[in-house]
Amino acid sequence: MKRRAFLRNGLMALGAPAVLPVTTGDAAFLTPRQSRQSGDLIRLSSNENPLGIPPGSKEAIVGGIGDGNRYPGNSRRALQEAVAQRHGVPINAVVLGNGSTEILQMGVQAKLHPELRLVAPAPTFEDVFEYSEPHPWIDLKPVPLLPDYAHDLTAMEEATRGAPGPVLVYVCNPNNPTGSLTPVEDVEAWIRRAPDNVHFLVDEAYFEFVDSGSYRSLDKVAFENPNVVVARTFSKVYGMAGIRLGYAVTHPDNARALQAFAAGTNCNHLALVAGLAALRDGDWVGTSVGANLESRKVTYAVLDELGLEYLPSHTNFVMHRISGDLREYINRMREAGIRVGRPFPPMLEFNRLSFGLPEEMERHAETLRDFRRRGWI
Ligand SMILES: Cc1ncc(COP(=O)(O)O)c(C=O)c1O
Repeated sequence: MKRRAFLRNGLMALGAPAVLPVTTGDAAFLTPRQSRQSGDLIRLSSNENPLGIPPGSKEAIVGGIGDGNRYPGNSRRALQEAVAQRHGVPINAVVLGNGSTEILQMGVQAKLHPELRLVAPAPTFEDVFEYSEPHPWIDLKPVPLLPDYAHDLTAMEEATRGAPGPVLVYVCNPNNPTGSLTPVEDVEAWIRRAPDNVHFLVDEAYFEFVDSGSYRSLDKVAFENPNVVVARTFSKVYGMAGIRLGYAVTHPDNARALQAFAAGTNCNHLALVAGLAALRDGDWVGTSVGANLESRKVTYAVLDELGLEYLPSHTNFVMHRISGDLREYINRMREAGIRVGRPFPPMLEFNRLSFGLPEEMERHAETLRDFRRRGWI
């Protein structure tokens, strides 16, 4: 008997069906684990999406397993096309990443130069600084945020002046950890007047959560200008942080330059089909943003009640005052079953809190009230 026939007949003889009955309808394993059900900590620490991934993406993953033996050329192209269409750019303006953090990594690596200067707001998402760590000669210029927590674009522009080589400017809009916006028109105006040695990495990880009429993506600006990269992710509104998928929109010349620093097959087939299904789901972004607003309301209410200042958020997290030692606060929250955000120096009198499900935020609110009764906050 040939090996394949043996396997088939052998399994049938054992009473096993030839094809495993995997369905998505009621499969419990496809439901996101709720922290309290599993006894884990409630995770309000990493700006994840508590809803899980869109239903169509789950089906696409299950359906895609059968093609796991094939290299993912077709699914890669299909996702690039869908992303290109969404942003109104050609397919060669799209670079896929194993999460958007890989785009940030490519962005730093593609600009490596013995005289590279890196200008970034502070505090902000740390990854660009971390990707520059192996290259200690990079001249780091962190620029404090303005009192309204927007990027200080004037000081950042000043920090680019007189650079002997290329300058990479990281713009995080909305900014992590402050959830604050920087006026897009001001960023765009700077991009348009910047000299050729100044390159911009614009991180729009929380784009979909922004509810300001004046906010928009710089995707078209990036497509027109080889000095600009816009980074986007499926980890936040699409709930796919563990699946790992992100992308860049940029000028095709720059797309080629970035791609040189990624593996040609850096995204796996299941992530690609899940991403495509997510983009095709016309309802998901609204559902996800709506749930986030509900949770935000619960948290704002308790912060108002306790008189704890917070920065109005355009994201799925909020930075709020804690009055007390931050490390102690984080540990006490952990003892109470809640994992909250890490410290973001120099804002050590604030804690970054991600929005979970409304009921998880109720539990957090109760814990805050308890901390107040004990005089800890
Ligand atoms: C501003 C910002 N950019 C990028 C990322 C990384 O996202 P990804 O999961 O796509 O790598 C995060 C994650 O928290 C973030 O806050």
